[in-house]
Amino acid sequence: MAIRPERYSSVAIILHWVMAVAFVLMLASGFVMAYGDLSQSLKFRMFQWHKSLGVLLLLAFVLRLGWRLFHRPPAFPASVTGLALAAAKGGHLALYALMILLPLSGWVMVSASVYGLPTIVFGWFEWPHLPGLAGDEGASDGAKTAHLVLALLFAATIAGHVLAVIKHYLFDRENFMARIWWTR
Ligand code: HEM
Ligand code: HEM
Repeated sequence: MAIRPERYSSVAIILHWVMAVAFVLMLASGFVMAYGDLSQSLKFRMFQWHKSLGVLLLLAFVLRLGWRLFHRPPAFPASVTGLALAAAKGGHLALYALMILLPLSGWVMVSASVYGLPTIVFGWFEWPHLPGLAGDEGASDGAKTAHLVLALLFAATIAGHVLAVIKHYLFDRENFMARIWWTR
């Protein structure tokens, strides 16, 4: 039987926190550039920044999923059972699904856009568009709606994720943060 450590591995900890910060920045930049009162040039630069970090997160996700599939996470404590256990597992699965569906829907949106603007990743290299979609207004509109709905679901799931950590700490005297940091 595989040994189940009490905390996540260092690689999992680094991936969790770097990606957590990056995804929160993606949500914030997405809403600001879509609804903020910005000049045209700032808006353009924000779009490029958002797309750049977004496609890098797609690559980071592949790394994270690969790591997760080959490294078991620490077992949940025996106190987490029934509905709470199902909610924790389902919540983590939903976060993984949203982490991949969000950048994919963004990629479809820009690939199908009638404007055909390229994605230059931090001025460094050009990220290709998905083939066969250029100028497909239906696909672009569908992906845009999906991107917004997924972003709202993502924000709600992250809020639930953080509230669950706080709830366990305050009411169950269980410090889950110690499992995803180098405290033991
Ligand atoms: C910003 C505040 C956040 C806090 C305080 C937080 C806290 C935690 C904690 C304590 C765990 C470990 C749960 C356990 O003991 O098993 C965890 C796991 C996890 N977190 Fe977060 N997290 C945050 C943000 C995020 C964000 C933004 C995402 C998504 C991008 C995310 C995705 C995940 C996933 C998928 C796991 C499960 C890892 C696995 O078992 O493979 N977290 N988080
Ligand atoms: C990685 C996770 C991502 C998150 C969390 C995210 C989040 C968001 C949010 C919250 C919005 C505002 C939604 C609206 O009100 O319509 C948005 C808009 C947008 N996102 Fe993302 N995004 C991500 C990845 C991407 C990627 C990879 C691309 C393209 C390569 C992209 C392209 C866009 C574009 C073009 C818009 C503007 C849509 C419009 O109003 O015209 N996003 N994003």
